[in-house]
Amino acid sequence: MANIKGRPFEEKGVESSKPCQNPDVLTSASGIPTGDKRNIITVGKCGPLLVEDVVFTEEMAHFNRERIPERVVHAKGAGAFGYFEVTHDITKYCKAKVFEHIGKRTPIAVRFSTASGESGSADTVRDPRGFGVKFYTEEGNWDLAGNNAPVFFIRDPIQFPSLTHAQKRHPQTHRKDPNALWDFFSLCPETMFEVTHVFSDHGTPDGYRHIDGFGVHAFKLVNDKDEAIYCKFHYKTNQGVKNLSAEEAAKLASSDPDYGLRDLFNAIDKGNCPSWTLSIQLMTFKEAENHKCNPFDSTKIWSEKDYPLIPVGQLILNRNPVNYFAEVEQLAFEPANMPPGIEPSPDKMLQGRLFAYPDALRYRLGPNYQQLPINWPQRASVANYQRDGPMCLFDNQGNAPNYYPNSYCGPESQRKYLAHKYKVSGVVTRYNSADDDNFSQVREFYMHEMKEDERQRLCQNIANSLQNAELFIQERAVKNFMAVHADYGARVQALLPQLSGKKSI
Ligand code: HEM
Repeated sequence: MANIKGRPFEEKGVESSKPCQNPDVLTSASGIPTGDKRNIITVGKCGPLLVEDVVFTEEMAHFNRERIPERVVHAKGAGAFGYFEVTHDITKYCKAKVFEHIGKRTPIAVRFSTASGESGSADTVRDPRGFGVKFYTEEGNWDLAGNNAPVFFIRDPIQFPSLTHAQKRHPQTHRKDPNALWDFFSLCPETMFEVTHVFSDHGTPDGYRHIDGFGVHAFKLVNDKDEAIYCKFHYKTNQGVKNLSAEEAAKLASSDPDYGLRDLFNAIDKGNCPSWTLSIQLMTFKEAENHKCNPFDSTKIWSEKDYPLIPVGQLILNRNPVNYFAEVEQLAFEPANMPPGIEPSPDKMLQGRLFAYPDALRYRLGPNYQQLPINWPQRASVANYQRDGPMCLFDNQGNAPNYYPNSYCGPESQRKYLAHKYKVSGVVTRYNSADDDNFSQVREFYMHEMKEDERQRLCQNIANSLQNAELFIQERAVKNFMAVHADYGARVQALLPQLSGKKSI
């Protein structure tokens, strides 16, 4: 590519740079110098146009193809780059080279997002926040796409499309539909924990620098003796958690809809680089067998009292994207990307995500999306038997054999990279998990982790949204809040104009 003399982004009020005195020659996409970029070719001064004006037709045709499908969820987001540095030794649990020794640094790409809004939506709306991290390790990319809540709404991946549809737009009106939202939430009480999180102050964080992140699922760590242990990943913000009030968030949604993007970009631009502490929780296989609930249920946490956080390292963001589309829109996270030493647990949701993301990426970015520079495993070499396809960006692995097995020195698999063996047994069927304990962890959170003023704001935020649903849905939702705790249910009920003053549901 030509060395383009770009204009770096400047905030209003900053003294602007001088106009460029020595620009590069303008060319077509094939590098042919262009004589005039302002005027189309016409027969006579007033037209018509000629097909031979390829400067125009190329420009127009490319423009017509500029948009790619936005992410089906998490469409609005901000990205930044930096590194992960190991501060504590966890090699006795995990052989992944990313944790090899204290002081080791691995480049990272991070994308923060809102979950249910479209690409043009406001950054401060009430919603979970996505927190995706790509570690460019020398054993291939490790992608940990998490959220700012420690739990997820559902525990069975087959419900994900319905969860998303209920939060997005009505099929007829194309408006967000509180009726659908609360119909789904109230019919699926396993959503209660994340609903409580999203309607609390954490649902409107102050930008992206002040959120914690959670891998949510259990994973498996494997050491070099092939011993395995279950693990959960946490990122704690070193900036401190900071949230906006519902009023501030609503005001910013209209006055500064790109608040989150701007805050992150400007902080890094000024050298005020945000960072997070990566920690793990560990649970042995024995503990998992005897755990009081399903330890692989993504609607539940592992108590930090019983499974304390073990610090591992620091994530530091010190570079902004130079080109948003190339580095952030095309950034692709795959929960299936785990280097040797990190493996999936049986968590059904995680297992469902192992399929969903690469499938979405083949549609959104094309079948060779791993070859895009931002997704390319820059510190590992790729050698396999996949070839061709649209937009094959490199040498397509030259003349190396494209079938396996072969006698011509094509790449060989090595047994040392086999995943940890595990045993499963059980009856194959569609298990109903809807009636697993949906309330006790939410009760603990509501009663013992939230302060009185936080509980009040939570119930008010819920009522502000729930009052727009039909009465029978409001009643069903209140019953679920009652099942968490009578105080929770009664407060929400008292704040609902159609239900306040009626006898307790
Ligand atoms: C079965 C459950 C789930 C399914 C099927 C699912 C599916 C998807 C899909 C298809 C995308 C868009 C991918 C793309 O086009 O780039 C996405 C994005 C995302 N999901 Fe999920 N998801 C699920 C659960 C979760 C959970 C539990 C979390 C958090 C722990 C999560 C966090 C994210 C994040 C952060 C992104 C945005 C990644 C980015 O910035 O590019 N998802 N999800």
